[in-house]
Amino acid sequence: MIAILGGTGDLGQGLAMRWAMAGEKVIIGSRSKEKAEKIAQELSAKIGRTILGATNLEATKSADFVVLSVPFEGCEKILEEVMPALSPDKILLSAMVPLKQTEGLLTCYSPPAGSAAETVAQIVGGRARVCSALQTVGAQELQRIDHPLEGDTVVCGDDAQARRQTMSYVEKIANLRAIDGGRLCNSRLVEPVTALLIKLTGRYKVPAVGIKFVGLDKSPGL
Ligand SMILES: NC(=O)c1ccc[n+]([C@@H]2O[C@H](COP(=O)([O-])OP(=O)(O)OC[C@H]3O[C@@H](n4cnc5c(N)ncnc54)[C@H](OP(=O)(O)O)[C@@H]3O)[C@@H](O)[C@H]2O)c1
Repeated sequence: MIAILGGTGDLGQGLAMRWAMAGEKVIIGSRSKEKAEKIAQELSAKIGRTILGATNLEATKSADFVVLSVPFEGCEKILEEVMPALSPDKILLSAMVPLKQTEGLLTCYSPPAGSAAETVAQIVGGRARVCSALQTVGAQELQRIDHPLEGDTVVCGDDAQARRQTMSYVEKIANLRAIDGGRLCNSRLVEPVTALLIKLTGRYKVPAVGIKFVGLDKSPGL
């Protein structure tokens, strides 16, 4: 089961539909059970497959792959809430980007831990295996379910097995390619790319901009 915490939001809804369309069991989490159930019903009706809705804690309990899809500023509180349902066999995937707007300039800032993903790892300690991915995949593109996705996403994580498992979950979304980004600290390099993509989306006045790497057609060296 895949749980998406904050799955009522733009990114979470898109991910929920794409994974459910790929045949995965999906539960979206929210701070409000009623809101989660309502949006889960709407998404299920859209794609003709069942998506469940629950509180963030209930969703975390029922899943072995848990995606954190909330604004970075809200993640600490949510993590404290779901902590009792985490365990070292679970993967916790951060899709978060610490964005801020200062005097009209959109930037990605570095939290004290180095990145959003490392902040998550610091908060949960060893209670889950933390990975990061999906920061460069646009919610709008995910939600256009009649269009195939294009592009790559970089997967980072210190636990090599969890990273490989995450890559395989990511690639269940049709057409999305997972790139092995190595250690979790490399999220520091990935998260800021989102600010660039948002900027280009506005500059070119297109619905979404993604990334695609060339030259990575073999497994990474060890
Ligand atoms: N949107 C994109 O295209 C995109 C792409 C890549 C990565 N991301 C990253 O993915 C994360 C989610 O993005 P999003 O656009 O889906 O965000 P969002 O729609 O603003 O928020 C997602 C959900 O998080 C919950 N939430 C909102 N504020 C919260 C708070 N202060 N504390 C705890 N929960 C809160 C809400 O769910 P409930 O009210 O139901 O609890 C909301 O529906 C962000 O960190 C973003 O940087 C977004």
